Amino acid sequence: MLKMKRICHLIFRLLFLLDGGVWSLRNLVISVPRAVLSGEGQSAVLRCSYDLEGAALYSIRWYRAETEFYRYVPRELPPTMVFPLPGASVDLAQSDHHQVRIVNLNRHLSGDYQCEVSADAPLFHTDIRSAPLTIVDPPFRAPRVSVSQRNYVRGDVIQANCSVDEAYPAPNITWIVDDQKIAESVSWHTSELDFRERGAFSQLQLSVLESERYQLGRSYTHDHSEMIYQQNYIISKEHSRQDVSYMMTPPESGHFTLGCIATIHDIYARRSEVLVIREDAPRPASVTGEESAGTVRTYNVVQTSVFTVAAMIFSL
Ligand SMILES: *[C@@H]1O[C@H](CO)[C@@H](O)[C@H](O)[C@H]1NC(C)=O
Ligand SMILES: *[C@@H]1O[C@H](CO)[C@@H](O)[C@H](O)[C@H]1NC(C)=O
Repeated sequence: MLKMKRICHLIFRLLFLLDGGVWSLRNLVISVPRAVLSGEGQSAVLRCSYDLEGAALYSIRWYRAETEFYRYVPRELPPTMVFPLPGASVDLAQSDHHQVRIVNLNRHLSGDYQCEVSADAPLFHTDIRSAPLTIVDPPFRAPRVSVSQRNYVRGDVIQANCSVDEAYPAPNITWIVDDQKIAESVSWHTSELDFRERGAFSQLQLSVLESERYQLGRSYTHDHSEMIYQQNYIISKEHSRQDVSYMMTPPESGHFTLGCIATIHDIYARRSEVLVIREDAPRPASVTGEESAGTVRTYNVVQTSVFTVAAMIFSL
C-alpha cells in the first residue's frame, strides 16, 4: 500500500517536471521599500527571497526598468557583476544572492525594480517579480498655512491655503482641525517617467455653521474635481488646483486649531504651523457688512452653497 503510494507520488512528480513544473523554484518574493530619500548617505536595500527546494542557484539578476544592474552567479569567479546604474551605486559589500543595496540614489532612478532568479541545470527554471521604488526629494521647508481671518463669528466661511514647496513626487496635503484629519488633497502625477519636482497647494473653505442642527462635519465640494466622500472626511484628487470645503459646527470652547500636513508615502511628513482660530464676541450684523466688497461676495456665494447643501441634507 505504502509502496503504491510512493510510486504514484513519483509518477506525479515526474509528470509535473515534464510539464515544466515548479519543483526547483518556489515562493519568489521581492521586498522593496515603497520610498526612500534621495541623496548622499541614503540607501535602499532590495531583497529577494525564494525557495529552490534543494536545487542549486544559477543566477540572481536585478533590473531597474528592464536594465540589468546587478548579477550574482555563484559558479563564476567573482560571482558578482555590476552594471552601471546612472545616479546611484551598488554597495557590493552588502549585496549577495538575497539582497542588493544601492546607495546615493537620485530620483531619476524611481520606478519598477525586478528580481529574477534562475535555478541551475537541468531545468534552469526562472521566475521574476517586480516592485515599485520611489526616490524622494522632500520639500525644503515645512508646509505654509495662511487664513483669511483669525477670528470668526458663526456663519463665517474661513478661507485657508496650504502650500508646499516643490518636491518629488508631489506631496499630498492633509487638513487638520483640532488634531482631526478633515480633508486630504491627493497629488496626481502625470507619468511614471516625469521626474520633475512639483509643489502642492490646497485651498480649504471652512464654514462655521450658525448652530448645531446640521450634521456634524458634513462636507461639500466644488464639483470640478474628483472627490471621494467618507464620513466626516473628504479626499480631493485633481491635477493642479485643489479646493476642498468643510462645514463644522461651532466649537463649544469658542476656538479651534487649524493646520496642514504634507506627506510623501511613508517617508516624509511635516506639519505646518498650527493656527488658533477664535470666536469673536457676538457683534451686530452691520459690522460684517462693512468688510471689503470681496469678502462679502465670497460670503454670499458660499452662503448659497451652504443653503444648497442644507436643502440636500433636509431632503434626504
Ligand atoms: C489663497 O490663495 C489664493 C490663490 O493664490 C489667493 O487668491 C488667496 O488670497 C489666498 N488666501 C489666503 C487666505 O492666503
Ligand atoms: C497620496 O495619496 C494617495 C491616496 O491615498 C496615494 O495613493 C499616493 O501614493 C499618495 N502620494 C504620495 C506622494 O504620498
